[in-house]
Amino acid sequence: MRAAAGAGGDLATEENAMKAKAAVLHGAGQKLDVREVDVAAPRAGEVLVRMAAGGVCHSDLHVMQGHLMASLPAILGHEGSGVIADVGPGVTSVKPGDHVLPLWRLSCGDCEYCANGRPALCAAGMQIRMSGRLADGTSRFSMDGKELKHFAGVSTFSQYSVIPERAVLKVPDDIPLEKAALLGCGVITGVGAVINCARVKPGSLVAVFGAGGVGLNVVQGAAIAGAEKIIAVDLLELKLEMARKFGATHTVSAAKGDPVEQVRALTGGRGVDYAFEVVGLPRTVRQAYDSLAKRGMAVAVGVSPTTAEVSVPLLPLVFEERVLTGSMYGSAVPRIDIPKLIDLYRAGKLKLDELLTRTYPIEQINVAYEALERGEVARSVVTFT
Ligand code: CU
Repeated sequence: MRAAAGAGGDLATEENAMKAKAAVLHGAGQKLDVREVDVAAPRAGEVLVRMAAGGVCHSDLHVMQGHLMASLPAILGHEGSGVIADVGPGVTSVKPGDHVLPLWRLSCGDCEYCANGRPALCAAGMQIRMSGRLADGTSRFSMDGKELKHFAGVSTFSQYSVIPERAVLKVPDDIPLEKAALLGCGVITGVGAVINCARVKPGSLVAVFGAGGVGLNVVQGAAIAGAEKIIAVDLLELKLEMARKFGATHTVSAAKGDPVEQVRALTGGRGVDYAFEVVGLPRTVRQAYDSLAKRGMAVAVGVSPTTAEVSVPLLPLVFEERVLTGSMYGSAVPRIDIPKLIDLYRAGKLKLDELLTRTYPIEQINVAYEALERGEVARSVVTFT
């Protein structure tokens, strides 16, 4: 007999549990532990997904480093793609065999924010993220009889994951799953910040601070929106090179002097209409703000440490009518925006093939994160074969 339920409620029982290889984070400051875990069958309103790919995104690294809070121990991963393996009672929107993307921000569909087209701001998403447990207050993951939490409600770094039906989106079968995975976080967050939040107009001048997995998608979002100048700013030459491939018209190395001065010089001293910060640091948010033209908008996209604060000169906010805002999950409605991104990919306007630079087996996930930290990859995924 398996151990009785812990504080979190029912654990996987021997009768209905299956085994899966998964990357577990036991505590902040540790590496991921790839091991076999138990996954219980999906309950009402839940689905079982056989993961095809898990996206190696910086937000998980923030959790590993203790900069972003999460309920631990947990199976990490919030970007991914897979195939429905089983469904719980009452599930009608998907069936076994369907290709799906897990959506890391659960939304209820009924609240003020969902009704207003801002599902990423729904309280249901925060609740599942902080508790690490599904709607009935329990977890479907366990290890040696001990509860493991669901990271962001999706835990894509597991061969099998139980996910709320509302948090999966069916995608067409002909899009390769490894590439489709990137749409669910990196692409929608970056392109969405440009299209949905800033609403960049054709002919605009744009600066992008940080050319990582999300930053490159801000760059290509600005290109899709018809920006005239797209200035990518980064410390690493390799990333600036990648930014050029994604549509940057100019690049600025922050390692070679004040990036604000360099951005201003590239705009004849005027400044940019839109500056996106895709790093998650007060210093770069400030640089984005300082790069603005009159009536310019700075958009913070990067995930910052929980305690980070930023200060900006107040007078230009009024005298120059500047805007400083943030964009969460591409300010998107994933059910509308992800199919549109797929159309753009099919039309050759969204670079997805170029974005996926490496694939690692799940066993090498820590190696994948080391490469991410060194800034070597645009985006990589782990696979479960
Ligand atoms: Cu992400």
